[in-house]
Amino acid sequence: MSYKYVPEPFRIKMVETIKMLTKEERIEKAKEANYNMFNLRGEDVYIDLLTDSGTNAMSSKQWAGVMEGDEAYAGAKSYYKLVDAGKDIFGYEFIQPVHQGRAAEKVLFPLMMGPGKVAISNMFFDTTRAHVEIAGARAIDCVVAEAKDPSKRAPFKGNMDVEKLERLINEHGPENVALIVMTITNNSAGGQPVSIQNLREVYEVSRKYNIPLDIDAARFAENAYFIKQREEGYADKSIKEIVREMFSYGDSFTMSAKKDAIVNMGGLIGIKDNAELYQKVKGNTISFEGFVTYGGLSGRDLEALSIGLYEGIDEDYLKYRIGQMEYFAAKLDEAGIAYQSPVGGHGLFIDAAALLPHLKYNDFPGHALAVQLYIEAGIRTCDIGSYMLGNDPDTGEQLESEFEFTRFAIPRRVYTQAHIDIMVDALIKIKENAKDVPGYKITWEPPILRHFQAHLEPKK
Ligand code: F0G
Repeated sequence: MSYKYVPEPFRIKMVETIKMLTKEERIEKAKEANYNMFNLRGEDVYIDLLTDSGTNAMSSKQWAGVMEGDEAYAGAKSYYKLVDAGKDIFGYEFIQPVHQGRAAEKVLFPLMMGPGKVAISNMFFDTTRAHVEIAGARAIDCVVAEAKDPSKRAPFKGNMDVEKLERLINEHGPENVALIVMTITNNSAGGQPVSIQNLREVYEVSRKYNIPLDIDAARFAENAYFIKQREEGYADKSIKEIVREMFSYGDSFTMSAKKDAIVNMGGLIGIKDNAELYQKVKGNTISFEGFVTYGGLSGRDLEALSIGLYEGIDEDYLKYRIGQMEYFAAKLDEAGIAYQSPVGGHGLFIDAAALLPHLKYNDFPGHALAVQLYIEAGIRTCDIGSYMLGNDPDTGEQLESEFEFTRFAIPRRVYTQAHIDIMVDALIKIKENAKDVPGYKITWEPPILRHFQAHLEPKK
């Protein structure tokens, strides 16, 4: 069955020329970068899929908004426009801009937790986990079991395991669980959505034990679209209605606006109705980010963000956005290439261990595939596997990840059907010559978050 590409609901008004290197040149660039994709210069990459964060294309309306941005230090018109958009879309009383997602976490989390406390999530994103730990607490993941089986096609693989959540709350004692975090969509599980039913059930648990619930809302609009497509009773609801219902099952949200709000920089904190908490959020914002009415952003960013929030929930746009991902996935099904399925909202996570069966976890298959994709086709992706996981802090031994994924994170409104076809062709070509793809060894690594900086070399 061939899947039809959903045509772009926009036309292209401005283009950015990309350099076309030869394969020989790319082999040289990879070597110069010590085989670490983060060390490549962006201009040496043809299709850049390192992240979907801040890499989106803004619309002509957003660019017009940039010119309208009010740069007043206090009380800018653009701030009020953003607050109105936030209240309208999410139904929360208090909206605080910050410069990106991790800034929202840095401002909010220390107000809610400290040493001796735990926070439980369907799955924490790396920076979210880090800010729980910086606040002195511990972060626990509690995703449903099917998230861990890449070949199992379940509609809501991002869900929280509700039974396990209650068990964990009772084990730690409700008074020690400072926060429940629902990440929508669930990035670390492959951009997998969370159902309304699951959001509701988790909210009920949070009421039962009197624990606040924060929504990590980076990809809230993609999550809403999946609910519309997959959950009974939601097909005829508007995306905005679904978003409103999703956020009714939370007390606060932290958002990296660099994803679904289709801007290059920005973040938000939303507080449903807790005026006391909002007062403290304002205090931390002033200390860390800047005055309340700009929160680390320029007026032009606030303006672009207030427009992007509406463009991100436009149904024609979401149909195209998710359609593009489904087209990519359907092509891989045809080619027999395994990935975390069904495809997520923002990324396709290739099962590199299945594609390169001759490589063991400590040959870093996810990374080996990423390097090969760059050499073959100028595509930049990243490893989500043992290479990213790193070493055991006690023994110094390489840890073995449950998965060896290579993540294709797709920027919004940036690449066309032909670019997707190039990605598919590159994967097919690599699959055909899989045994020629070398494993990698690390020749130098820093003590923490090594994957960003390490030097590697192909194993011969
Ligand atoms: N929460 C989630 C679910 C995220 O995916 C990210 C960022 C953040 C929080 C932090 O936001 O980058 O604006 O500070 N994810 C990016 C990624 C970096 O590539 O998945 P930020």
